[in-house]
Amino acid sequence: MLRRASYFIGEHVPDNTTLLKADELGRIEIVERDGKPCIRRDIRAARWWAHAFAHRAAAREARALAKLDGIDGVPALLAWDGRELLRSYIAGRPMQQAQPRDSAYYRDALRLLAQLHRHGIVHNDLAKEPNWLVREDGRPALVDFQIAWTRGKRGRLFRLLAREDLRHLLKHKRTYCEHALSTRQRKMLDTPAPHSRLWRATGKRLYKLIARRVFGYWDNEGKGRVRD
Ligand SMILES: Nc1ncnc2c1ncn2[C@@H]1O[C@H](COP(=O)(O)OP(=O)(O)O)[C@@H](O)[C@H]1O
Ligand SMILES: [Mg+2]
Repeated sequence: MLRRASYFIGEHVPDNTTLLKADELGRIEIVERDGKPCIRRDIRAARWWAHAFAHRAAAREARALAKLDGIDGVPALLAWDGRELLRSYIAGRPMQQAQPRDSAYYRDALRLLAQLHRHGIVHNDLAKEPNWLVREDGRPALVDFQIAWTRGKRGRLFRLLAREDLRHLLKHKRTYCEHALSTRQRKMLDTPAPHSRLWRATGKRLYKLIARRVFGYWDNEGKGRVRD
């Protein structure tokens, strides 16, 4: 999906920009600011018909990152001007590459999720491995808050979505570190929330169809698996 990109994924261009991803919603690049690497989400590169959606999603991400300011394992929001969103770079590899098999990773990831939820944020996109990073020291980090819930702890829906965040993490744990799952965690894996069951039965197929037809892919982020 590089129709509109003037250079290729992973290629270094003269102004020290590296393209990480390009799709209908814009581009994600590593750029340098004051000698430090940062991540830029540029929605000016979004297709015209996707622009309003891309803008809303980036604004939502900015809101989430602002609320999570100071949490270790979440990028810092450096700037958002309605066109580009700058966040701090976190050195590491996405989950599908790093394949974390150490139970300490999942312990820290549970703590990180608890912190998010305490701040009234639900991530909502944790089934995707590329949104989980394994840092150089082996600890987890989270990126991509475009579809996060940012409106604080509001009753039942918040709790339901927060539980789904947790369940998606446990699915990754089951893949890479199954022996460390507790009995309680196994039970939780066996009981998805009602909306998730409904989604698996109906919506997911429709979504895949639309994603393939409109975007030309299902999930193109480094071939990371999606578990839901
Ligand atoms: N702050 C960051 N530090 C390091 N890598 C990042 C950071 N933000 C994003 N990435 C990498 O870029 C990829 C795409 O970013 P992401 O925010 O997930 O975009 P999208 O919303 O298009 O999926 C991520 O999967 C991750 O590998
Ligand atoms: Mg992502």
